[in-house]
Amino acid sequence: MRLLSGVLASSSALLSGVLGSASAAFDRLGFSRVSFGRANPSSMPAPACKADAASSSAAADADAGAQKPWLFVGLGNPGRMYKGTRHNVGFEMIDAIAEAEGISVTSKQFKAIVGKGLIGDVPVMLAKPQTFMNASGESVGQLVSYFKIPLNQLVVIYDDLDIPFAKLRLLPKGGHGGHNGMRSIIDHLKQSRNFPRLRMGIGRPPEEMGAISFVLRSFSKEEKEELEVTFQRGLQAVRIMVREGFNKSATFVNTPLPLEMPLEMLNR
Ligand SMILES: *[C@@H]1O[C@H](CO)[C@@H](O)[C@H](O)[C@H]1NC(C)=O
Ligand SMILES: *[C@@H]1O[C@H](CO)[C@@H](O)[C@H](O)[C@H]1NC(C)=O
Repeated sequence: MRLLSGVLASSSALLSGVLGSASAAFDRLGFSRVSFGRANPSSMPAPACKADAASSSAAADADAGAQKPWLFVGLGNPGRMYKGTRHNVGFEMIDAIAEAEGISVTSKQFKAIVGKGLIGDVPVMLAKPQTFMNASGESVGQLVSYFKIPLNQLVVIYDDLDIPFAKLRLLPKGGHGGHNGMRSIIDHLKQSRNFPRLRMGIGRPPEEMGAISFVLRSFSKEEKEELEVTFQRGLQAVRIMVREGFNKSATFVNTPLPLEMPLEMLNR
């Protein structure tokens, strides 16, 4: 079973210990050669960061695309106090991917805890911004530009009040939907909204409770069990995305399972 690990691992003593071995493993995988080389500082900001360059960069990448890393960013708030809360399911999704794929997410870069590895033979980066939710874009904007991530390979994973509990939605682009983390990311990508997002349903607050108190609440034991299934489904979605492309994954995520069909239709 996956553990709720993560944010506490930010002690610098621990980090410096892990960093060396992580990058050694990385070189073994040929990563630095493939795609994680330093961006040329003189070419900053990288084209991938410009809104209008997103599609042309995507087209240009069609041939060499397999070489560019995907960047999966889970949103949350750092620190003990926020661990396991609804607003932090993005972090937990990253932890689930990291554990299943054996990727160590322990180094600190651009205000995020990051890990690099392979899913199948596709290079991926996993990141959990440590800026606090509202400022997530400070971290994501820098990661995208430094590692020259094409915007169609930046996937932001976050909690969503408008999606039924434990359900997922995968879209290729869109607005921030009132989510502070997404608002900040869009601001730092020069208002581009053309990057995929995996939204995780956390349900609606009870009538008497405000949205902020609700998202900062923890899950019940039953909810946690149900979420484990969601994390597994999210992991499956990520694997399909990097191996077979975004559209296949979107179909997988957004097509209701047969048993869900009647309820979904009632909700329309
Ligand atoms: C951060 O987000 C909260 C809502 O979660 C909001 O009330 C607060 O004003 C925001 N702070 C900043 C500095 O944007
Ligand atoms: C993915 O789907 C979109 C819209 O449904 C379509 O425009 C696009 O061509 C598809 N991409 C691929 C690679 O099939």
